[in-house]
Amino acid sequence: MKSLLLVANFKSNKTTAEAKSWIEEFSKEYRGKEDNEVVICSPFTSLSILKEYIKNNKLEIKLGAEDVSAYSEGPFTGEINAKQIKELADYVVIGHSERRKNFNETDDVLEQKTRQALKNDLTVIYCIQDKNQKIPAGVKVVAYEPIFAIGTGNPDTPDNARSVALEVKKRINDLKVIYGGSVTEDNVKSFTELSEIDGVLVGGASLDAKEFNRIIQKA
Ligand code: PGA
Repeated sequence: MKSLLLVANFKSNKTTAEAKSWIEEFSKEYRGKEDNEVVICSPFTSLSILKEYIKNNKLEIKLGAEDVSAYSEGPFTGEINAKQIKELADYVVIGHSERRKNFNETDDVLEQKTRQALKNDLTVIYCIQDKNQKIPAGVKVVAYEPIFAIGTGNPDTPDNARSVALEVKKRINDLKVIYGGSVTEDNVKSFTELSEIDGVLVGGASLDAKEFNRIIQKA
């Protein structure tokens, strides 16, 4: 069986106390499956508490950041750079449509962020909203997330997700493509059972620990 990448995307949700309760509840039922990799992407503020809990409880879970600075360390007030993230996490989400839209992140900025992340050994989960979008060099994981499907309860069809994954894989060797956009426990399998889809990026449905566990089980 292929290994899946199953990613929770907290976005700008959860205080540290809420993230702690989430991981406590999640770990009660969490059973890693074969070679699947489970990643929790959370705001910077919660990464440290999640890391400590995962270590103390020897859980097979990786962490990811929701964003990274386009700059290295230095006089960039307010930024959190890739080296700082690497202390706490192994993954980072770059190119999410919410950042492109609300924070005017251009392809150039996203490429700069990707370079910083790769230089510091972070695995980039690079989000694209359609099959023709630019993908920076060195990216090994792409999340296909059509805008109409994000947070709407209206996922893309597995068939369409499959054809996008195929197209993108033609452009880049050794690429994993995961699907995101209104993934739930009821539809996750329809995506992960396709050989071209290597996992899912789950927003809203990951905020509930029990539901994210069910998604992992059903994937
Ligand atoms: P959603 O979000 O699962 O709430 O649709 C997915 C995402 O934006 O990563």
